[in-house]
Amino acid sequence: MFLSFILMLSFISCDTVAQKKLNSTTEVTWEHSAHGIWRASVGRTQSISLLKAADISPNYEAIATLSNPEFPLDKEKISAEVINGETYLRFPLQKGEELFGLGLNFKTHNQRGRILKLHMDHYGNEDNGRSHAPVPFYVSTEGYGVLIDAAKYIQVYAGTGVRAEADEPPVLHDRNTDSGWEAQPYSDAVEILVPADGTDFYVFGGDSMLEVVQRYNLFNGGGTLPPKWGLGFTQRVPTLFSAKDIEKEVADFESHDFPLDFIGVEPGWHTMAYPCTFEWEKSRFPHPEGFVQGLLDKGIRANLWINPYVSPKGSLYPRIKPFTGSHTVWNGIVPDFTLKEAKTLFKSHFMENHIDIGVSGYKIDEVDGFDQWLWPDVATFPSGTTAEEMRQIYGTIMQKMTADWFKEKNQRTYGLVRAANVGTNSLPYVIYNDYYSHKDFITALINSSFIGVLWTPEVRASGSAEEWLRRMQSVCFSPMAMLNAWADGTKPWSFPEVEKEVREVARLRMQLLPYIYTAFAKYQQEGIPPFRAMQLVKGFSFKSEKVKGELDGTANPYADATIREVKYQYMMGDDILVAPMFTGEKTRQVILPTGKWYDFYTGAFAGEQEIITIAPGLDQIPLFVKDGGIIPMITARNRMPSANETLQLTVRHYGMAPGKFLLYDDDGTTFDYEKGKYSQAILKVDKLNNEFKGSIKIDNKEYFNYKSEINWEFMTQNK
Ligand code: GAL
Repeated sequence: MFLSFILMLSFISCDTVAQKKLNSTTEVTWEHSAHGIWRASVGRTQSISLLKAADISPNYEAIATLSNPEFPLDKEKISAEVINGETYLRFPLQKGEELFGLGLNFKTHNQRGRILKLHMDHYGNEDNGRSHAPVPFYVSTEGYGVLIDAAKYIQVYAGTGVRAEADEPPVLHDRNTDSGWEAQPYSDAVEILVPADGTDFYVFGGDSMLEVVQRYNLFNGGGTLPPKWGLGFTQRVPTLFSAKDIEKEVADFESHDFPLDFIGVEPGWHTMAYPCTFEWEKSRFPHPEGFVQGLLDKGIRANLWINPYVSPKGSLYPRIKPFTGSHTVWNGIVPDFTLKEAKTLFKSHFMENHIDIGVSGYKIDEVDGFDQWLWPDVATFPSGTTAEEMRQIYGTIMQKMTADWFKEKNQRTYGLVRAANVGTNSLPYVIYNDYYSHKDFITALINSSFIGVLWTPEVRASGSAEEWLRRMQSVCFSPMAMLNAWADGTKPWSFPEVEKEVREVARLRMQLLPYIYTAFAKYQQEGIPPFRAMQLVKGFSFKSEKVKGELDGTANPYADATIREVKYQYMMGDDILVAPMFTGEKTRQVILPTGKWYDFYTGAFAGEQEIITIAPGLDQIPLFVKDGGIIPMITARNRMPSANETLQLTVRHYGMAPGKFLLYDDDGTTFDYEKGKYSQAILKVDKLNNEFKGSIKIDNKEYFNYKSEINWEFMTQNK
């Protein structure tokens, strides 16, 4: 009896010790990293991390201009511990709080209640963490952000786990009798497992979700400012197109009077691809320099497709071999770009053969996944970087490396990439993929704004003229207006019945250059994403809704909820709300934030803090402008302007309120703006005796490439 009592006691105390270990909260020491940004470390410092790979300096000056928040979370409720060589992190959650970010998701928006394993991969039709940008950063509706700086496959339980010792335990329900029973009881924490014996992590404060995102972007150097030509239309040509075919393509664009600023040259320019030689195939491109210069003479840039896997048939192979990993990808060796030697060899080859002859950018393909194709996690690299770390950072390193080459020449680039991670917001790349759901492409575009990346809903083939036009409309209201015809050879005019409408929307994008370019300048200077989720608009309120479903005994007896989210409308810049239409839909709903909103095309009042139902025609993508919105535009054209052109501005004003717009401009191609060589003109609309009057005040006139006489259009007046 006595013995069993002792035994029982010892069991209890063992249990308590084990429990204690898992539940205990080692005190986290926070250090001020920048204004409103706090950093903490746990366990061993890792030599590779996401921030270290990106190697970008924060824009402290711009961060200092933001609000001065207190530490936004209850420090006592944050825990960090290394257990058995892995890091366990926990952050508190409030009731009703929603979380955004955690990778580039395509189908979902609010991540609260979801489990994600953040793993670099090609998107596989499921929001499970495997994505082109598995960025371990989330933004909360409570006005803070959390970043885990680990180049690992991080597991995030975003408010799913329920600890026995939870601060806010869920209510107990009897499923037999109580309809309030939930398959997923309330969870009061985000819990994160980092498969490493230590990590750094950060908390970002802000007076709004937008400011948290701004801080995150500015911490990573601010957003990228593309060259003006990068914001024009781009066509990617079929794989085996030759220089001659491309010249004909350009002529066809001219005869169809269609905008074109850069051409994407797909794998056929290499003497061998998958793996690649990075050398021009002479039968298709006998005079590479003449080809590239010929395009440049017409004002068109060339962008070259690459993947990084080096072919044994290429001249780079023997030289780079010592600096490559243990495994091949499509028989190509995999450069270890964490080594200076590998970078230097690539640089001299790429400079000499491409950039110095006038190539303007790259499409960096296949740096994301799939598992069956890429190096496995058992691969090793000469630097000692693990295969897992390499997978998480490869796209980042390639973006940084190639961007630096152009920067050295004081030349901006704008390209494509399939893998991005923390710190890439300042790099001139837009993510794309092979997936092709129009609706999910828009959700990805929206989600990209929470994690500091850009996304293009590229157009490829379409099943109907309607789908073609609807997709074209969306891509023209995205960071890169691209038709990717690598496989099917489609042209913007492939559906003649909508050629006119497709041309019109492409030209509308060209007309909006001053507005879009300014939105990107704000990304660069203030960290404000140019294309962004409605949640990042001040005054926008919409709570995701849980909708009770019927109990389903066959498919999933626990499926009790679906979540309604704002996944199909977004902001372009500060003033334009974009609500794309999808094939087969004749009407749609649009949620208008606080304040009055006006139809972009007519200037008519559309609504105010309400959900409206619209029935637009096929020819227009629905656009709404906020009250007092000012939209500077230029005349429709087929190429973006060069620095020595002076353009006529037409400035539209919407609504009944006065307005102000800070119009940004610079030479459009170099980095001289970093030395202050840019202009910011104040466009202002005042109301005097019930009449609107526009004015302009220009600073740094020499960098302002517009005429100072402006055509003002008061879109709403008298309506
Ligand atoms: C794919 C890429 C496509 C196209 C193709 C060329 O991996 O996603 O956009 O470039 O390669 O082979």
